[in-house]
Amino acid sequence: MTTMKRIQYHQYGGPEVLRLEDFEPARPGPGEVLVRVKAAAANPMDWQIRNGAMKIVTGRRFPRGLGHDFAGVVVAVGVGVTRFGIGDEVLGGAGMKASGAFAEMVVAEEKAVVAKPASLSWEEAAALPIVGLTAYQAMVSTSKVHAGQAVFIHGCLGGVGRSAAQIALAHGASVSGSCRGSAMREARDLGVAPIVEFDFDATELAGRFDVVFDTAGTLPIKAAQTLLKPGGRIIDITPTPAKFARSALPGPYQVLVAKAVTEDLDAVAQAAGKGALRLPVARTVPLGEAIPALTELERDRTPKGGKLVITTE
Ligand SMILES: NC(=O)c1ccc[n+]([C@@H]2O[C@H](COP(=O)([O-])OP(=O)(O)OC[C@H]3O[C@@H](n4cnc5c(N)ncnc54)[C@H](OP(=O)(O)O)[C@@H]3O)[C@@H](O)[C@H]2O)c1
Repeated sequence: MTTMKRIQYHQYGGPEVLRLEDFEPARPGPGEVLVRVKAAAANPMDWQIRNGAMKIVTGRRFPRGLGHDFAGVVVAVGVGVTRFGIGDEVLGGAGMKASGAFAEMVVAEEKAVVAKPASLSWEEAAALPIVGLTAYQAMVSTSKVHAGQAVFIHGCLGGVGRSAAQIALAHGASVSGSCRGSAMREARDLGVAPIVEFDFDATELAGRFDVVFDTAGTLPIKAAQTLLKPGGRIIDITPTPAKFARSALPGPYQVLVAKAVTEDLDAVAQAAGKGALRLPVARTVPLGEAIPALTELERDRTPKGGKLVITTE
């Protein structure tokens, strides 16, 4: 197989360990597809994995590729793959252990890949997978939000928060949330009301919400409890050992870790294809210029207002 380029690293560490290097794409194993990447999107999990925060799962074999979310064209399929053939246009996520979406080619499990709606650009498609899937599993699979319910989203303009707001609104719920003071207009345009700043006083919104979704991991548990209606649910997606322990106790608090469920990812792709779920792309860079852009995103949390997307041609 021909040599390709990818962003990889030879030890866990900060952004300085990243290199754009040649690699030989693996053949897809059973149940896997090999995808020629057209676009890939950055997520906080990429640098959390690169830092070694998940090395219990990601292991000690190097070099390791970086990147989860991608959109591209299937170029080979492994034994047992039934849903895809060569030439299919797809979007999906590389497994946490393998990663490697910031590359010209990536291997992914068939179940973590769905058809790309024709109405989406490669960049728009690449922006969807992990944020859309997490938001869908928080709002629909777990909370079953429906008309008449009220949802509070802490960090309603991040990738997950913005997706969750749109999904909850589409399911008939009302959505309130927090964001940076300078971004309130954007939240209002999304349909979020009322909108508060990150350090809001929860007592002013006491007892109003069926679901409190903390996408930033910074909402004190007391504040989340204050916001809840009796019988409501608190969802946190930034796990720590202490949070997992709390999540195991009876009560409204729950840590959610997104899983590659094909039907959920497909629902996300379909919603985006119909224009009902929009993830703005704030910056696009070619693979050859992606390391400085990734470093800036991690250090300065910029660009704001949308995803950083890496393109391969
Ligand atoms: N458990 C899972 O399965 C799972 C899946 C996906 C993501 N995650 C995790 O969920 C988190 C969010 O992911 P994402 O992709 O949505 O990230 P993101 O796009 O970077 O969004 C983070 C949001 O949090 C906001 N924020 C910053 N400081 C805040 C504060 N003090 N209080 C409240 N909000 C604050 C940011 O606002 P500004 O932009 O204005 O700074 C931004 O809107 C990450 O830690 C990610 O690793 C977990």
